[in-house]
Amino acid sequence: MTIHIGAEKGDIAETVLLPGDPHRAKWAAETFLDDVRLVNNVRGMLGFTGTWKGNTVTIQGSGMGMPSLSIYVNELIRDFGAKTLIRIGSCGGMQDSVNVRDVILAMTSTTLSTPSRGIMKELNFAPCADWGLLQAAANAAAAKGTPTHVGGIYSSDVFYDERPDLNEQMVRHGILGVEMEAAELYILAARHKCRALAVLTVSDHLLTGEALPSSERERSFRDMVEIALQAAFPDAA
Ligand code: HPA
Repeated sequence: MTIHIGAEKGDIAETVLLPGDPHRAKWAAETFLDDVRLVNNVRGMLGFTGTWKGNTVTIQGSGMGMPSLSIYVNELIRDFGAKTLIRIGSCGGMQDSVNVRDVILAMTSTTLSTPSRGIMKELNFAPCADWGLLQAAANAAAAKGTPTHVGGIYSSDVFYDERPDLNEQMVRHGILGVEMEAAELYILAARHKCRALAVLTVSDHLLTGEALPSSERERSFRDMVEIALQAAFPDAA
């Protein structure tokens, strides 16, 4: 048991999928895993452990934003022995070539700050995804025929952004989409010698104002979870 995760050590798998929304953790666990059991309900931040094609997986809500994700990922790694952490979540598209429903695999993430800023000081650390996971996810997405983009994203501290000038620079420099968690996930994985990746579905678009209707969100989420599971277990039959 930790402050935020009410599980015993053996309840959490080495591979953890991290949706921001705890209800999405429940949906993904019930949809994709066998022998599912609830392993965390502290603050309603639901976590479930089950098996996918014989491999044990935990799906744990991370909450919204890097400070919340940082709490769960620190405890998952330090107290429960998590080794492979894959964020599954939504993002806003930031390029004309990116459409809603597409998947983005975040190679790296730009930020203004992260919860790790305090130890990085003047260093502009470049958070990056694990290459093996990224490659396996790209292969899984290609096999499914899901339109997928691989590149840099922006992990923002705010959803209601007040800096259009910064967004303009990021669009200009090829940033594919904006979300609020991946950079800190990648930094924590680097610090603790773990593997991390963010697999994101484009739910809305900053340039066009388009947004995925809720009726269609489930389908894109389904693709994203399958890609994440196949990336974690590329040899699963
Ligand atoms: N901004 C930040 N996070 C997001 C967005 C957005 O537009 N869409 C989905 N997650």
